[in-house]
Amino acid sequence: MSKVEALGQNAERDRVYWGLEGVYVNETCICYIDTESGKIYYRGYDLEDLVRHASFEEVAYLLLYGKLPNRRELEEFSNKLREKRYIDSDVIELVRKLPLDAYPIDVLRLCIDYYCTKMRFVNTLSVKDNYELAIDLIAKSPVVLAYLYRISRGLDVVLPRPELDHSANFYYMLTGRTPDEVEHEAMNTIFIIYADHSLANSTFTAITVGSTLSDLGSAIIAALCSLKGPLHGGANREVVNMLLEIGDEGRVEDYVLEKIKRKEKIMGFGHRVYKGQARDPRVKILKNIAKKLALRKGGDSLKIYRIAERLEEVVEKYLGSKGVGPNVDLYAGVVLYQLGIPPDYNPAVFAISRVVGWVAHVLEYWNHNKLIRPLEKYRGPLGLKYVPLEERE
Ligand SMILES: CC(C)(COP(=O)(O)OP(=O)(O)OC[C@H]1O[C@@H](n2cnc3c(N)ncnc32)[C@H](O)[C@@H]1OP(=O)(O)O)[C@@H](O)C(=O)NCCC(=O)NCCS
Repeated sequence: MSKVEALGQNAERDRVYWGLEGVYVNETCICYIDTESGKIYYRGYDLEDLVRHASFEEVAYLLLYGKLPNRRELEEFSNKLREKRYIDSDVIELVRKLPLDAYPIDVLRLCIDYYCTKMRFVNTLSVKDNYELAIDLIAKSPVVLAYLYRISRGLDVVLPRPELDHSANFYYMLTGRTPDEVEHEAMNTIFIIYADHSLANSTFTAITVGSTLSDLGSAIIAALCSLKGPLHGGANREVVNMLLEIGDEGRVEDYVLEKIKRKEKIMGFGHRVYKGQARDPRVKILKNIAKKLALRKGGDSLKIYRIAERLEEVVEKYLGSKGVGPNVDLYAGVVLYQLGIPPDYNPAVFAISRVVGWVAHVLEYWNHNKLIRPLEKYRGPLGLKYVPLEERE
């Protein structure tokens, strides 16, 4: 018996958990997804309640510090975020030097990398230093994106307004207009909903890097690389492009049947953790917002909403019994489009929200740090004899 055959003898030992599906690798108090009842909890609070009542600042504080802030704590935290909205001119110069059509999430990654490199940030494991950097990144990342948007369109940059909260200020710096009530609610909801979702691939990436005791900035940069992928945070960009490509609700059924025939994935559907009866609870929340924006704005906003709604119906009809339902990115894509954000920016908007969850998870993981180092099952040959180059075929 060869060594490779011997490796395969023990069935349990031989088992590979592809994609780590169904494997627990961490314990957390940050986020819980109840897939039976279709509920998400941030630090024990129902996400639906938080969306209804809280600002992004409150939720960010909750995720980072483990409790809802009292009035004084919220004021201090919000003021700190406001003060840190200003970015150094060399970072703006860096943005100006990049190709006009660079992907926003790449620009964000580069700027965070540049900023951390400049600060010579190494891991001191100092809780205070890490919270400082975390608040810095949460405050500055939206500003980088807004500058990129304006600069790449040849528009004047818009300076932050201290009286605006986090989500209103981002919208203002991007568009040059303060959001109306519904737009503000939509932006705040997007930021809250994307702020965390347990051990998503990017969060796992962040704690994997963190587990080597590399620094927080490096963990965030690695998480950004993960988030870019279309199976994860890149899906909200693909969703909008797909809805625009479909172009009309009357074409949805043919589109879905063609995708199924070709065995291709439909973006904004399917999820690793929502496979049973209960659907991703973020869908309902964002669908309501998308509907509000559609009715208020009409035109293209209404049209894209109707295509998404029809797509949801048709995919449920053909793939629902397999557990394939809409995920967060379907209506997040619609809402971002309705807010006038170009699809290429969508993954980056996801990132500037999720940075809260990444930081919270890395800091929590460091409380009981264990180097993440799983195993892989070797399936190749062993004992091959080296053949000199001139003798090889
Ligand atoms: C998210 C995703 C990667 C999860 O993948 P996963 O847990 O590995 O699930 P699988 O790819 O094994 O899918 C299980 C089954 O559902 C089907 N399925 C899953 N997502 C689907 C989708 N979006 N469209 C069509 N079929 C889908 C698969 O084809 C597979 O069918 P099969 O058993 O007949 O082969 C996957 O659903 C996907 O690629 N979705 C589209 C991208 C997306 O929206 N990502 C954002 C996630 S929040």
